[in-house]
Amino acid sequence: MSENPLNVLAVAGSLHEKSLTRAVIHHVAARLQGEGCRVDILDLGRESPALYNPDTACDAPGFDALQRRVEAADALVLGTPDYHGGVSGALKNFLDHFWREFAGKLLVPVVASHEKGLTVMDQIRTLARQCYAWTLPYGVSFEPNADVKDGRIVSDTLDRRLEMMVRDVRVYGALLARQRRADLAGNDPGFLARLRK
Ligand SMILES: Cc1cc2nc3c(=O)[nH]c(=O)nc-3n(C[C@H](O)[C@H](O)[C@H](O)COP(=O)(O)O)c2cc1C
Repeated sequence: MSENPLNVLAVAGSLHEKSLTRAVIHHVAARLQGEGCRVDILDLGRESPALYNPDTACDAPGFDALQRRVEAADALVLGTPDYHGGVSGALKNFLDHFWREFAGKLLVPVVASHEKGLTVMDQIRTLARQCYAWTLPYGVSFEPNADVKDGRIVSDTLDRRLEMMVRDVRVYGALLARQRRADLAGNDPGFLARLRK
């Protein structure tokens, strides 16, 4: 692990000043770092790309730097509030900027929801499929105020679920990252062949 640490981009997808999603993403990031991962936190409340416009996105200030951060990631933890059963506009806007950069990588939903966030996770799965990315076979949702209060995790159930998720991101993220690198460097006709440089 220490030879080749897993690079994780942890995205906080709420603009809310006292966002519980942000608190959980910081918690997940600290745990991943504790397990030897290299974690970059993208807080969309602090640094959000402009509303995606296919005509101008690539020339927008900050786009190249953001693209490098996404490219550097082996896995992405995507934190979002449940807004009307879907991902936040901030997260969707970030995701709209990329697809090649997600291909072959692990996407992991973390959702603030009063309703388990299943429709939000389904959206992220659909999005992953469209971008040739993988997802864990589950996501983690938490109930605002019951599981996370005043920026702190207050439920043992959520704590254990996050422990499981962090372990799975580290293990499956590393497996997928190794295979992705091999496929990009090789000549096999896998789905990543079209992304070889
Ligand atoms: C516009 C809007 C729509 C929402 N829709 C839902 C919803 O459909 N289901 C749900 O469980 N919570 C919904 N919520 C509640 C948020 O998911 C919840 O407040 C969450 O904690 C917000 O995350 P944050 O603290 O990270 O900003 C909604 C909140 C807003 C502002």
